[in-house]
Amino acid sequence: MYLTKEEERILNGETGETLRQAIEILVALGDIYSADRLIPIKSAQIAGVSYKTMGDAGLEWISDLQGKVKVPAILNPAGMDLQDWKRLKISPDFAEKQKLIVQAYEKLGIRCECTCTPYTLEGFDAGYGDHLAWSESSAVSYANSVLGARTNREGGPSALSAALLGKTANYGFHLDENRVPEVSFDVESLLKGSDYGALGYVAGKLAGSKVPVFQLRNTPDADELKALGAAMAASGAVALYHVEGVTPEICRVNFEAPAEKITIERSQLDEVYESLKEACKKPELITIGCPHCSARELEKAAELLRGKTVSKEFWIFTSRELANRYPEYIRTIEKSGAKVVCDTCMVVSPATNSYSCVMVNSGKALAYVPGMCGAEAVYGSMEACVEEAVGRTENKAGDSN
Ligand code: F3S
Repeated sequence: MYLTKEEERILNGETGETLRQAIEILVALGDIYSADRLIPIKSAQIAGVSYKTMGDAGLEWISDLQGKVKVPAILNPAGMDLQDWKRLKISPDFAEKQKLIVQAYEKLGIRCECTCTPYTLEGFDAGYGDHLAWSESSAVSYANSVLGARTNREGGPSALSAALLGKTANYGFHLDENRVPEVSFDVESLLKGSDYGALGYVAGKLAGSKVPVFQLRNTPDADELKALGAAMAASGAVALYHVEGVTPEICRVNFEAPAEKITIERSQLDEVYESLKEACKKPELITIGCPHCSARELEKAAELLRGKTVSKEFWIFTSRELANRYPEYIRTIEKSGAKVVCDTCMVVSPATNSYSCVMVNSGKALAYVPGMCGAEAVYGSMEACVEEAVGRTENKAGDSN
């Protein structure tokens, strides 16, 4: 890989050990994936924040690093709400370690708002063709597909290295040739809301790591695209998708239609709603906000919960910035007894591990909760989640039993 004189000096350790380690990681990745050079990035988003996944080794590594990031950089969700960690019964030991991790990142100049939806925050807008180094899979999918920006799915260390250098290696989704659709999904039925998460759950398994293009019967909004991409990145390894007539790249570039064509039927989506109901008949915990809720999703949750009282634990995850921006939605939601939780999520927080059956409205959470939290998961729309939380569904299930 070609390096400039300045990059060679960094690699030789002439600008300090932290930058030497950072460029060594990027050069190693570049060599593996045949990158020709390093390219400038607009921003970085760094996963590997929760003490649940980082452990003491991760804390030690991050604490030893010196210097400042060269581009706007932000963290992925941590293992707890950084301001109100007692609320989800996080242990003091965990909280102490989690705070040290976040402080170590902050020392490097990284914004410590912990969210998987950085694109909703000021300073993290990304436009068509912008190069980024983001690492959370749903954020990567959204950036590549919905915004038309370009990022690989960085690991935590490589995203941090990119932030410290302001550059990343030029390979993968930074290159035109890797953004071409490889499989076409024709979706027969009209879709709405949580159907997009169910579609992503099904399509991700079929696509693996290929780039899909969807032929849909209707036009999804930004939240629906977010849910589709998040689920495909979890049930498969899709980091970029196109929707004919909707997403920006396929509207600008004249791609050839892929030879592989798959039809997805309504019954396959219905199975996602039905399949896990037997294993998880009585959810003890209901969660929404995977990826973190947008302003519109908070508004919808507030409308659905207005004047109601929940009878089960109901956690709604969003970014701190959106929670601060829309206090009226938060007040309405919390008046019902549901909890709005920031900086973390149902997958990376150890709090979920205390439950055996969790209801989610996210295809990504459906894919990850069993493995990461040791709980069964069941899928439903936001409306169904609210119904379950206030008890009506439980009564119905009780009647039929
Ligand atoms: Fe975000 Fe956590 Fe889901 S990081 S995409 S809310 S698993």
